[in-house]
Amino acid sequence: MASYLIRHTPKLSGEVEVSAAKNAVLPILAAGLLSEDPLIVKDVPRITDVDMLLSILRDCGAHVQRSGMDVSVCAMHPQSPDHEENMRRLRASILILGPILARTGSACVGLPGGCAIGQRPIDLHLRGLQALGAQVHAMGGMRQLSGRLTGARVYLDLPSVGATENLMMAATLACGVTVIENAAKEPEIIDLANCLNQMGASITGAGTGTIIIRGVERLHGAVYQPISDRVEAGTLLCAAAVTDGSVLVRGARAEHLRSLLFKLQETGVGIRETPSGIRLTGSAVAPFEVRTLAYPGFPTDMQAPMTVVALKCRGRSLIHETVFENRFMHATELSRLGARIRVENNVAMVDGGTPLEGGVVKSTDLRAGAALMLAGLMAEGETILQDPAGHIERGYQDLPEKLRSLGADVEKIEDRL
Ligand code: UD1
Repeated sequence: MASYLIRHTPKLSGEVEVSAAKNAVLPILAAGLLSEDPLIVKDVPRITDVDMLLSILRDCGAHVQRSGMDVSVCAMHPQSPDHEENMRRLRASILILGPILARTGSACVGLPGGCAIGQRPIDLHLRGLQALGAQVHAMGGMRQLSGRLTGARVYLDLPSVGATENLMMAATLACGVTVIENAAKEPEIIDLANCLNQMGASITGAGTGTIIIRGVERLHGAVYQPISDRVEAGTLLCAAAVTDGSVLVRGARAEHLRSLLFKLQETGVGIRETPSGIRLTGSAVAPFEVRTLAYPGFPTDMQAPMTVVALKCRGRSLIHETVFENRFMHATELSRLGARIRVENNVAMVDGGTPLEGGVVKSTDLRAGAALMLAGLMAEGETILQDPAGHIERGYQDLPEKLRSLGADVEKIEDRL
């Protein structure tokens, strides 16, 4: 069982480099299924979500090779995956659906899994593909889709990131023009569109609510450098804010982090944008109110780390979670360290400003795991963070090592407990 021993750390200081974005890399790797030529993705983080997707891509008949930090995906003859259980383990596995369907005219996939932060249905993915002409059949936990795709106008009831990505990829090889309305606007959508355009696709409007895709005959190979991870960058900035630190997060892009940076500034920390990244200095002191929303709103993936920042602030902060229905599981764990948090419906009321005490806590999902690691830095004495499902390594490359390079006392004590 993966566990971490974290000791109280008064001040983080120094510089740390952020990895490429998990949420950009996963769809981009899936896009490798759209071409028979190799797609080479640079700086692919060493995280288990990537390993899992690569094994699903191999299962889909792709030739996948990692060489240092670069990964190449080459799919001469893509097919549906044989092993349904791999798909259950990774939410982003659903991103193979659009590419396989577009390439071959049929796809059969298991329902995806991932963090237990909400129901996470795939109805918008399926309805969108139906609008492009796919027939959808349910077979127990499997979905069989078939049909040659034709461009169409698709309206998403919610600006789902995954559905926008799946439809954008499928539409690149559809016959005619597809318009996705109420599309997600996340930076990772723009990054995927840029990669697809480098592969020969014709996509405009990515990053706005209306994305237009003109279908092409085929896509070719490309070499692509994904954007940096705004959630990892944000997590490291929060780590500095809860330890009264002075940290430069190299590679962090302020234009992707506006909502977080404004909120952190409201708490009293100093934020400085530099050509190489973002520097945070000082301690969070003033309480705040925040509401998670689709981009450019405050990211739901930063909600758990920001809850820990609220524990540092003197007074009551209010945190509204509007994207996922079950994303406050870290609140119970934080109270084991003495945190005063009350959750009512989708609002957490956090009474911060009193010291936390070290204890034993359990990671319940990816971002909650990282948040608990930050809480361990704040807490007096020692904290054991148990992560039996390996959530932290699913999404963060070397998080303990990165924190250690800033002076944190964190070590992985895998299998010793
Ligand atoms: C992506 C991110 C995840 C982030 C989330 C929201 C990846 C690999 N993961 O997840 O880190 O937390 O965006 O920013 O990029 N929904 C439906 N029907 C659907 C699809 C989604 O109702 O068919 C709902 C979801 O239950 C959720 C909301 O839409 O309430 C947003 O989900 P979505 O944007 O699709 O998240 P993911 O793409 O799964």
